Amino acid sequence: MTNWLVTEYLNKMTLEEKVAQLLQLAVPFFKGAKDSGQITGPMKSLGITEEQIDNAGSVLGLAGAEEVLAVQKAHLANNRLGIPLLIMADIVHGFKTIFPVPLAIGCSWDLELAEKSAEIAAREAAVSGIHVTFAPMVDLVRDPRWGRVMESTGEDPYLNSLFAQAFVRGFQGDDLRNERDRVAACVKHFAAYGLAEGGRDYNTVDLSELKLRESYLPGYKAALDAGAEMVMTSFNTLDGIPATGNRKLMRKLLREEWGFDGVLISDWGAVKELIPHGVAEDEREAALKALQAGVDIEMMTSCYVHYLPELVAEGVIEEKLVDEAVLRILELKEKMGLFEQPLRGADPELERTVVYSSEHRAVSRELAAKSCVLLKNDGLLPLGRQQRVALIGPFADSGDILGPWSWTGSQETAARLGAAMQAASAEASNVTLAAGCGIDTFEKALAQEAAAAAEAADVLVLALGEASEMSGEAGSRSDIRLPQAQLELLRRMKQLGKPLAVVLFNGRPLDLSGVLDEADAVLEAWFPGSEGGLAIADLLYGNVNPSGKLTMSFPYSTGQIPVYYNSFNTGRPQGAPDAQVRYVSQYLDVPNEPLLPFGYGLSYTTFAYGQPKLSSATLTAEQPLQVSVAVTNTGSTAGTEIVQLYIRDMAGEVVRPLKELKAFSRVELAPGESRTISFEINEAMLRYYHSDLSFGSDPGAFKLMIGGSSRDVQEADFRLV
Ligand code: GLC
Repeated sequence: MTNWLVTEYLNKMTLEEKVAQLLQLAVPFFKGAKDSGQITGPMKSLGITEEQIDNAGSVLGLAGAEEVLAVQKAHLANNRLGIPLLIMADIVHGFKTIFPVPLAIGCSWDLELAEKSAEIAAREAAVSGIHVTFAPMVDLVRDPRWGRVMESTGEDPYLNSLFAQAFVRGFQGDDLRNERDRVAACVKHFAAYGLAEGGRDYNTVDLSELKLRESYLPGYKAALDAGAEMVMTSFNTLDGIPATGNRKLMRKLLREEWGFDGVLISDWGAVKELIPHGVAEDEREAALKALQAGVDIEMMTSCYVHYLPELVAEGVIEEKLVDEAVLRILELKEKMGLFEQPLRGADPELERTVVYSSEHRAVSRELAAKSCVLLKNDGLLPLGRQQRVALIGPFADSGDILGPWSWTGSQETAARLGAAMQAASAEASNVTLAAGCGIDTFEKALAQEAAAAAEAADVLVLALGEASEMSGEAGSRSDIRLPQAQLELLRRMKQLGKPLAVVLFNGRPLDLSGVLDEADAVLEAWFPGSEGGLAIADLLYGNVNPSGKLTMSFPYSTGQIPVYYNSFNTGRPQGAPDAQVRYVSQYLDVPNEPLLPFGYGLSYTTFAYGQPKLSSATLTAEQPLQVSVAVTNTGSTAGTEIVQLYIRDMAGEVVRPLKELKAFSRVELAPGESRTISFEINEAMLRYYHSDLSFGSDPGAFKLMIGGSSRDVQEADFRLV
């Protein structure tokens, strides 16, 4: 509903002022800016005037209370109508207190803590002057060659939707006008950016509408249902049309079908990129197509300011199309109270105590410990505090553990693994550090130094992985193994014949050839954030028992990609009763299943599952059924198990996945303790998109599966009647 205030402003604005309101610029363009802020795309000359900058509607990549105060005050002094800037930035998994990357947070399966991390990120960002965060990123991912899988929470639509809602709740709170310590969320990248062909960033996306709706749209819809104020377009095409100029996707689906009337912002340069995409001859046509698609804000290109006035003057578009976009932006500013409080939450004094507080860092440490996944343990872990440990590898003493979206974080003050292990051991001198090699450079001297450190140790811990710039945006890799230098180091250390554990720092599932078989234990730490070293030391020394479970499959090799748990059976499945040896859907050189499946993760204890018990063998739309299963901690250490419920529709109107996650429960059990975990299964859980895109369930046979991963499950059958 448009309120009178913004209408007042609109009526006073000239056409030039209106189109400038649709312009978003990076920090260096603005008066009062002392530094360049965060630059996340190509910086080219935009050919814009001082007046257009003074009338710009928003800035991106600006942070810091003093900096924001300076820029906002300068802007207000030079803007004829005193319309304040919206201040936006990428606060994806933390501001100064950096949390694990979202793919790691997803592996915690802890929605509450995920929400808490977003709330803390919002508090730190808001006090530093930010109004909107370009998060959550909810793109479904199934291809670890793509560098941005680290920003997602994984390969499952249902789990991604739950995390999307948790992040939006945490960022926004309930009342953006009065809660000035929260920020508006901008869900991205709409849509299906994660399906870039070949895992190559910015590449073509092509899929059926059925698959788009079934698997790729739920995360965005969930974020909007949770109230996300903004949407960001994706760089890719859909149905042959780039999202940023795609009227069917933006006007028809997002705005008409879903009823989204908030602000739609292009990704960096995506309006002008309609030209290289080949759907616009020039910036004039790019401006026309983007506005017709409903894109309100043009990020970091100047097609709108250069060509919308003439398109209106020539009657090619009506001015009301511009007005709609301007109104949505003014309404968001008004909703956030910016007309009364253009400085909103920016507070240099408060910033000094809120940002990077010990309370916030404690939450990051807890979430990091829950986000790590124990991939293998032949009994080597947890370490004894008296053991002499040689910590070897490029991540033994590295601050590059914050991940690719951590521009406001501090690698210098991040908790490094070496120091944390020395603090956790009985004596600091029990733990010696040696780099062993570079990220992708092998140096004999470093290897010899590492061998010397190893000689004196009882146990070797190798800290290996990807540098942060090897994932993230524009960080696609065609070969997802560890760099050869690190594999060589691991091989040499293995030859010493001592117990050997590996800790991995990476932004994607890796091809673990040369790692998983060689090591006695492997802990996946992802990019664990500001407190990463402390969290990993907590796990390695058993102060915390690992509970993380993978939310994205680890393939045997790059050649197996895409491999994901919720795939289809095919007409010639491997292992069927009448399956032939050859003529089935398989590879000759690797299994069909991933090396490590969705939902997988070990603990220092073990859990046993009883047979699922159903309240009924049938369910109806009116009468759901209950399923319960006894879960027992059969080990000697307290631990947390993430009990997962999957369902398979045995015969649909279209093919249905082998299994789909439908519920889960985190359960903490003392040694020997048993607990009965129950889930309700109702008809709504069985609905899916049909070939005519209708959404509903069909009577028939279903299988439920319950277990500690998508692979290790107990089954039971039931029918929908
Ligand atoms: C980048 C990213 C997007 C980010 C934006 C602003 O190109 O694709 O995720 O929010 O630019 O930094």
